[in-house]
Amino acid sequence: MSKTKRSSAPARTRRSARVSRPARPGRLPLASGNSAVCGLQWGDEGKGQIVDLLTAHHDYVVRFNGGNNAGHSVQIGEERFALHLVPSGILYPDKICVIGNGVVVDPPGILEEIKGLSQRGVKVGSNLRISDRAHVVLTYHKVQDKLMDDVLGKARGDETRIGTTGRGIGPCYADKALRSTAVRMGELLDADRLRQKLTYIVEVKNIMLQGMARQLGREYTPFDAAALAEEFAGYGRQLAPYIGDTTALLHQALDEKRRLLFEGANAALLDVDHGTYPFVTSSCCSASGAYSGAAVPGGSIRNVVGIVKMYTSRVGGGPMPTEMFDATGEHIRQVGKEFGTTTGRPRRCGWLDLVATRYTARLSGATAIASTGLAVLTGLPVLKACVGYRYQGATLENFPADTEVLSRLEPVYREFPGFDEPISDCRAYKQLPAAARRFIEFAEDSIGVPIRFVCVGRRRDQILTR
Ligand code: IMO
Ligand code: MG
Repeated sequence: MSKTKRSSAPARTRRSARVSRPARPGRLPLASGNSAVCGLQWGDEGKGQIVDLLTAHHDYVVRFNGGNNAGHSVQIGEERFALHLVPSGILYPDKICVIGNGVVVDPPGILEEIKGLSQRGVKVGSNLRISDRAHVVLTYHKVQDKLMDDVLGKARGDETRIGTTGRGIGPCYADKALRSTAVRMGELLDADRLRQKLTYIVEVKNIMLQGMARQLGREYTPFDAAALAEEFAGYGRQLAPYIGDTTALLHQALDEKRRLLFEGANAALLDVDHGTYPFVTSSCCSASGAYSGAAVPGGSIRNVVGIVKMYTSRVGGGPMPTEMFDATGEHIRQVGKEFGTTTGRPRRCGWLDLVATRYTARLSGATAIASTGLAVLTGLPVLKACVGYRYQGATLENFPADTEVLSRLEPVYREFPGFDEPISDCRAYKQLPAAARRFIEFAEDSIGVPIRFVCVGRRRDQILTR
């Protein structure tokens, strides 16, 4: 590494006056070394809270997948921060936050987030780095996202809709794979090249999008390549201080034995390869995605913390074997505030699915589990967990690939007595009601990975370790 590169490493930033922090990180029930956090269900497991806790023990926080389809919320005292693209490590002034090459970045979206954070006293400067290899979500991707879902919904029926977040994520990753129609963050920095490139891309996009709009009987205003290029070159100028070679930066950090934390967005059952395809997102959301999405060598992550909510939620279409359509499902939705951080949509709610979580824990190589959402179950007379799938008279050994099978199988439940005592003030695992502990310990045995963290609320001080 050259001297110049070394000196370009981000400097420490001023401590923000408004965000309080734990005085000193306590001991974590994890090994030393680098860590990853990823959701083991369909998203919204509460990853932000655990990332926030682990950040205190790491030097870098790195996003490696997804875009602003993700919504991570962190609650500090009475203040709640909803982040979509910026790693939640930004709430600590002395951490370096990296948006890796595997992420798709929406420039106006991230600028808005940076502005919002700055207005609340959170400094965003040289502590934020964006990979020049990350891909750019352009305005036409969002139009394409919506049109595609609607055209397919019209052609094949509404039940086939993926029900995306409409953030242009899928079309952006599709262009990344297509190559000729993709734009990377580094390319925003050269206005002339960007204009040349967008001239032919926009021509192709207009033909395609116009055709889809016509199919739906909708008006379509063609994109103007020059105007779009000017707009995005403008974003490029504003984002220029953050854009750079994060591969080199992270390799240098590894050489210096700095501790890295990889923050997964979305969740393993939404993984493009391993999730409930095609009702998934378009990136690799399991912990293994960190290797390619952040450009770190295989084996460099020691702790993989899988986040498991003690019930299940899902937004958008696709199979969900343990979905509840009754008053208990509605109760969980209300108590758990299960409405999307990104789109505000009500989330589908269901019982804990241990077949699915055992599969995703294995897939991600989880070394520890953090359980969330336990407090939401307070007051329910009976708790259920799915321990098996029955399909056409047989018990399935493994999580099936086929969504047809997933939507028709029958979950086998095990029932547990519930607990009535509020748990949000418990400060040690042993203070939890026996019934709550029994539910946690059954889940742990079934998943086969120790549950090291039990969240009893959404605040920093509501995470019990064991
Ligand atoms: P976080 O990080 C919940 C879902 C969408 C949709 C499908 C595809 O907050 O846990 P996309 O816009 O990604 O093409 O949509 O994936 N989805 C999520 N659901 N939480 C998320 O992220 C999600 N990211 C994508 O609802 O069904
Ligand atoms: Mg979400």
